[in-house]
Amino acid sequence: MTADPTARTTGPARFSEERSAEVVAASFAGTPDARLGEVMTALVRHLHAFVKDVEPTVDEWAAAIGFLTEVGTACTPVRQEFVLLSDVLGVSMLVETMNNRADRGTESTVEGPFHLVRSPARELGADIALDGKGEPCLVTGTVRGVDGTPVPGAAVDVWQANADGFYDVQQPEQQPEGNLRGLFTTDDEGRFWFRSIVPRYYPVPTDGPVGRLLQATGRHPNRPAHIHFDVRACGYRPLLTHLFVADTPYLDSDAVFGVKDSLVREFPTVDDPARAAEVGLPNPFRAVHFDVVLRPETPADGA
Ligand SMILES: [Fe+2]
Repeated sequence: MTADPTARTTGPARFSEERSAEVVAASFAGTPDARLGEVMTALVRHLHAFVKDVEPTVDEWAAAIGFLTEVGTACTPVRQEFVLLSDVLGVSMLVETMNNRADRGTESTVEGPFHLVRSPARELGADIALDGKGEPCLVTGTVRGVDGTPVPGAAVDVWQANADGFYDVQQPEQQPEGNLRGLFTTDDEGRFWFRSIVPRYYPVPTDGPVGRLLQATGRHPNRPAHIHFDVRACGYRPLLTHLFVADTPYLDSDAVFGVKDSLVREFPTVDDPARAAEVGLPNPFRAVHFDVVLRPETPADGA
């Protein structure tokens, strides 16, 4: 019996289970943007390996696509479910960490989903607890460069949850607009200070598909108590980070993996009527000191 001369037995691009990744990756070989081509090739390689590892049924794959569709439709201008999915899978934190491999300077962490509004500019020493609810706290610190030089005029943007674990944007009926947010400018010695309250731990939003994923996998949704910092100054790399409260629950099981040991601080109680009067807080009060070290700007930062 002679072979069919029209049959192709060694086609270079025939799809098969064994060669699926190789064949699909080859389809991106002509991508004009080299980086896009690199990313798509790696995506195909890892995605096909994942599918071959899991061997989903057709119904399971449809459920996976349905889940991602729900994540997309849950997004609104004030809610980003895909960021939340990235957060709870640890990918946000991985990207943040890889892009800020700092052997010097304050460590960074995730921005989180609640920096939705511009923080109101406030004078140094201002009280950002507009509703006066919660345990009073004095926050102080200095912004410096890696050589120890103070950075005057640095913009220090802070935002935090209240004593019940909610941001103002989550409770527009209960909290005044701009509650527990402030944009400060460091003084001539690089110092900042403001009055606030001790934040509470809080759950990430659980009423969407990501919340259901956490529940289905037996994971809790909580984040340890923290104050967000976004610090910027001319000639330095911008820094997004958190200041974590040392005695908060969930420090060892942050739902978005954002904790770094170097960012945890004690919030001791100060019982000193004279100091309380000086800073404008009732006695006793809690206090925390958080020095920030900015790394110099690199050419890539301005790209
Ligand atoms: Fe937060």
